[in-house]
Amino acid sequence: MRLLPELIENNRNWVANVNKTDPEFFNTLSKGQSPQFLWIGCADSRVPANQILGLNPGEVFVHRNIANVVVHSDFNCQSVLEYAVSVLKVKHVIVCGHYGCGGVKAASENHHVGLIDNWLRHIRDVRQKHEAALQEIDDEGARFDRLVELNVVEQAENVCHSTVVQDAWERGQSLAVHGWIYSIGDGLLKDLDVTIAGPDEIAESYRVAINRNV
Ligand code: CO
Repeated sequence: MRLLPELIENNRNWVANVNKTDPEFFNTLSKGQSPQFLWIGCADSRVPANQILGLNPGEVFVHRNIANVVVHSDFNCQSVLEYAVSVLKVKHVIVCGHYGCGGVKAASENHHVGLIDNWLRHIRDVRQKHEAALQEIDDEGARFDRLVELNVVEQAENVCHSTVVQDAWERGQSLAVHGWIYSIGDGLLKDLDVTIAGPDEIAESYRVAINRNV
């Protein structure tokens, strides 16, 4: 099918509803954005940032990729981070993983898929780094959940160590980095207690998060 009439129709209905509630909504948005939050989450279709957070367009800047990975050499993610922190001056960066993440699952198995294996390698690195702790968990599902959590902790660390965030803290900008998990099964967010608001908090927050019980 070349056309997607139902989606265009959905759009028209959404615009009509928004205008009914707030006739100035689109006019206001067209003047600019000043979101307080940057969301770095998984590309999974079941994890839509705005809906989970109950936020409207204009309220959260979003970067999503497979398994919410933050790599220093990924110019896409780092550019989003830079724009959000240095230009938009967001107050919070939220790294949010989710239980049942297909990317993390694939990384914990050793099947060869193709190009994506290079991306998943970053999660395999997380798994290897925490291999001993993960092996202590007998239940396979619990071990998978823990790897999802550890991946968030590591990626939040990577945000903290980025030049963008280090420079922001250096110039005294108020900025906190958070690590959260979303549960697709019940729609609830869980704070992993990785909340880092300055360079001197990284090590302690990391230690607590890593030693946290499942
Ligand atoms: Co995922």
